[in-house]
Amino acid sequence: MRYDVRIADESDLRPLQDRLTGDDCVILRHRLVDDDRGRLLRAAMGNDTVGSVIVSWAPADEPEVRAVLPGVPLMYLLRVDQPYRCRGIGTGLIRRAESYLRGRGHERVLIGVDQCNVRAGRLYRSLGYRNMLVGLPGSDGSYDILVRELGAY
Ligand SMILES: CC(C)(COP(=O)(O)OP(=O)(O)OC[C@H]1O[C@@H](n2cnc3c(N)ncnc32)[C@H](O)[C@@H]1OP(=O)(O)O)[C@@H](O)C(=O)NCCC(=O)NCCS
Repeated sequence: MRYDVRIADESDLRPLQDRLTGDDCVILRHRLVDDDRGRLLRAAMGNDTVGSVIVSWAPADEPEVRAVLPGVPLMYLLRVDQPYRCRGIGTGLIRRAESYLRGRGHERVLIGVDQCNVRAGRLYRSLGYRNMLVGLPGSDGSYDILVRELGAY
């Protein structure tokens, strides 16, 4: 079955919130609903959400990221449900997020990836993301900040 990627509205938040931990949930609601500083993109098959990603133009949490990449929007909480992986849905979510940000006038986008998440890191790098900050200390070990120019594909 084909999937499509849509900008989600508030009613789409509920299924995602159920999968998030408390802090992520608060941040998500704040950025997406209260502050209008981000969007949730959902990949849907029929009525079912099979994947999602958040784009945000709120300042990055880390001071070192804000210093090196001021005003650069970020993508986070990318996920595709296990049975639907390796069909291009993650790539589709990333490309849709990029074109959304390009449409808002942004020239670059950043994404953070844990160094132990080899699969995700390989995917991002294959899609044109390049190391900007390497080995930042995180709660799940070191992570890297990758950046992509939002020029023509
Ligand atoms: C990372 C993640 C979002 C990728 O989603 P996905 O839908 O599997 O991504 P894609 O299908 O676009 O690409 C994954 C791989 O499948 C390959 N692929 C894509 N379409 C394919 C197809 N039709 N047939 C075979 N392989 C395909 C891609 O080339 C890619 O290969 P790679 O692993 O060598 O890089 C997913 O694995 C996930 O949710 N992981 C858990 C959460 C997570 O780690 N998120 C990232 C946090 S930074």
